[in-house]
Amino acid sequence: MNKGSQKCELLVDPVNIETVLKSCLEKDDLHRFIRNVIGNGVIVAPVPIWKIRRKVMMPALTPKIVESFIDIFATQTNVLAQKLEPSCGTGEFSVWPFINRYTLVTETALGVKLKAQDDPNVPFLTALNRVTNLLSERIFHLWLQPDWLYKLFRGKYTEHEKCRFTMRDFVAEVISKKREERAINKTSEIETDFNIKDSHKDQTFLDLLIKSSGGDKGYNDVELREEILTLIIAGTDTSAVAIANTLVLLGKYPKIQEKVHEELSSVYGDSDRLLDKEDLPKLQYLERVIKESMRLYPPAPFLVRKLLREVALPSGHVLPAGSGVIISIWGAHRNPKYWGPDAECFYPDRFLPERLNLPHPCCYLPFSNGPRNCVGYQYAMMSMKGALSAILRRYKVIGTPEEGPIPRMKMKIDIMYNYRENETNPKMHYMYL
Ligand code: HEM
Repeated sequence: MNKGSQKCELLVDPVNIETVLKSCLEKDDLHRFIRNVIGNGVIVAPVPIWKIRRKVMMPALTPKIVESFIDIFATQTNVLAQKLEPSCGTGEFSVWPFINRYTLVTETALGVKLKAQDDPNVPFLTALNRVTNLLSERIFHLWLQPDWLYKLFRGKYTEHEKCRFTMRDFVAEVISKKREERAINKTSEIETDFNIKDSHKDQTFLDLLIKSSGGDKGYNDVELREEILTLIIAGTDTSAVAIANTLVLLGKYPKIQEKVHEELSSVYGDSDRLLDKEDLPKLQYLERVIKESMRLYPPAPFLVRKLLREVALPSGHVLPAGSGVIISIWGAHRNPKYWGPDAECFYPDRFLPERLNLPHPCCYLPFSNGPRNCVGYQYAMMSMKGALSAILRRYKVIGTPEEGPIPRMKMKIDIMYNYRENETNPKMHYMYL
């Protein structure tokens, strides 16, 4: 395949994919457009910077830290369910805006209650959504790629810059307030050993990144801003797409949805209490549904890496130095050689531990694999399970039942895949229990 004038290889076989993900860590040049917005944030940083950034970020996303966000998730998932109530029972409506506002990770990232779920016009979220659209437009349209030419599309360029500054200034202001707060509280002792204690109640990603980078002498304001924007961009739409696709699938498969409801009622009974951290491991069937939904519809369907040197694949094929390589998570997830003849079917129980017998770790990689995989995996699972359980405890999704086990969903390619609005939006109805 040719990407512009540059050769680009497409990989779908997990064995070849593993080789590339382990040995080629540089992001392809296409990521430069995202770099315009988040600078050298870990997700797009060139390898020498990425190594340092990754080491600093990892301690901020350990399972213990993620677990400490449970109260925020409990409140926010409850707000999400309440926000859906006025629309439920009124016929077809799109759940996307509700979910998109829920997944915005500003409270955990910055400790700022944006109240995005209350106000659909929060400038930060509006800017984030618009800039994401503009970025994917640029990535997929060659004529928008050269900087000098993009500037000639004055409307787009001006909007891009406006959104970029809205996001940047908002995060910069929060960082500046955090610095003042730390100076007042004299909590600026240097912490350099990456050992953040297990008690982190009320700590945000911002606090944690300051600590793990070495206290106030660690990351400067620009580095902090880049990493916070990265967490927000990496964590918002990905989780929202997965939640929305799962709801669409449950609308198509009422029997599977029924099993989710049964599991939820065994965990929550008639109680309307908030989510608790003990609930999550009990939601095993819901977890299989989410995993199967992300297998068929991975929120990040492709990854693009750049080969700095020639790479010999296990298949015998040699990828030339300088080429780009597209890793098709979508293709790996639907490969009948590994997933069997029913690879295209929606079948959550294939993830039952006793049934799942994947011959290769890269057969299933919604969060990628190798040294540059997703650091937000635990956070995302908690966010998705929390949101879906809050919604499905109260409501039933009514869709047009699918005739067979292979779901037919029209997907729109953006930076991520998403269902096409107005075609497969789940209809939400009250569930009378
Ligand atoms: C369903 C939700 C999510 C999915 C499917 C997902 C998927 C991915 C994938 C595929 C990558 C790897 C890109 C590559 O290998 O080139 C990645 C990287 C990353 N993700 Fe996630 N992600 C999700 C949620 C999150 C969340 C909630 C956060 C943070 C709170 C997060 C933070 C990151 C970061 C920082 C990276 C960059 C890692 C690096 O380059 O070292 N992600 N994610």
